[in-house]
Amino acid sequence: MGRIALVTGGSRGIGAAISKALKAEGYAVAATYGGNDEAAAAFTEETGIKTYKWSVGDYDACVAGVAQVEADLGPVEVLVNNAGITRDAPFHKITPEQWSQVIDTNLTGVFNMTHPIWPGMRERKFGRVITISSINGQKGQFAQANYAAAKAGDIGFTKALSQEGARAGITVNAICPGYINTEMMSTIPEKVMNEVILPQIPVGRLGEADEIARCVVFLASDQAGFITGSTISANGGQYLA
Ligand code: CAA
Repeated sequence: MGRIALVTGGSRGIGAAISKALKAEGYAVAATYGGNDEAAAAFTEETGIKTYKWSVGDYDACVAGVAQVEADLGPVEVLVNNAGITRDAPFHKITPEQWSQVIDTNLTGVFNMTHPIWPGMRERKFGRVITISSINGQKGQFAQANYAAAKAGDIGFTKALSQEGARAGITVNAICPGYINTEMMSTIPEKVMNEVILPQIPVGRLGEADEIARCVVFLASDQAGFITGSTISANGGQYLA
C-alpha cells in the first residue's frame, strides 16, 4: 500500500490532474471538493478516487473532514493544498465579499487544512505539504488584489512552515503555476486572453494541468526530501522569479 495523499479541490481542474497522477504513482488518494456534486460524482466514477465535500474556509469542517479521511484511509502523509477560487475585479470595484471569499479559501483554507494534519506528520516524522500558489502571487495581476494577496500569503506560509517542519522530516513547498488550461480560464474575456495574456507567455501556449501534477508527484516523493521552503515556477517563462 502506498502513502496516503489528500488533495483539496481535487476533483476538477489542476486538482483532478494531481489526484490522478498521485493515484497512478501508487498513493491512496482522497479528493475534497467545495460544491460541485455532479463533477465530483463523475470524477469518482472515472477514477475510483473517493471525494469528500467540505469548505476549506471552515476550520471545524476541515477538522471533521480530515478525521473522516483518516478513518477511511489512514493518516495523511501528503497534503496538497490546491483548492482555490477567483473573484476578479479592478480594485475600485471589488467588494468586501469578493475580498473575503478569496482570502478565506485561498489563504485561510491552507491554514485550516494544514493545521489539523500537522501534529500527526510531526509525530510520524514524515510529511509533505505542497501548496498550489500562483504566478500572480509572485508578480501581481490586474484585477486580482484579493487573489494575488492570498497567493503571495501562501508563499510566506510555505517559507515559514518549512523551517518548523525541517526537524520533523516534513517538507513544505509551493508551486506557482502560470496560466493553465482549465475551467478557471473561462472567466477571462477572450480578447484579454488573446491580446494581453497569451502574448506574455514565451512558450506561446497555456500550460496543461498534467504539467503541474508532475511537479507535485516529484515534491511528494521520498527523493525530494532535501527540497523545502521552495517555490517551483511552472509558467512557460512568463515570469522569472
Ligand atoms: N491586464 C491588463 N489589462 C486588463 C487585464 C489584464 N489582465 N484584464 C482586463 N484588462 C483591461 C481590459 O482590457 C479593459 O481595458 P479597456 O477599458 O482599455 O478596454 C479594462 O481592463 C477593463 O476594465 P473594466 O473596469 O471595464 O473591468 P470590469 O469591471 O469589466 O472587469 C475584468 C473585467 C474582471 C478585469 C476582466 O477583464 C478579467 O477577468 N480580466 C482578466 C484578469 C486576469 O487576468 N485574471 C487572472 C485569472 S487566471 C488565474 O487567476 C489563475 C492563475 O493563478 C494564473
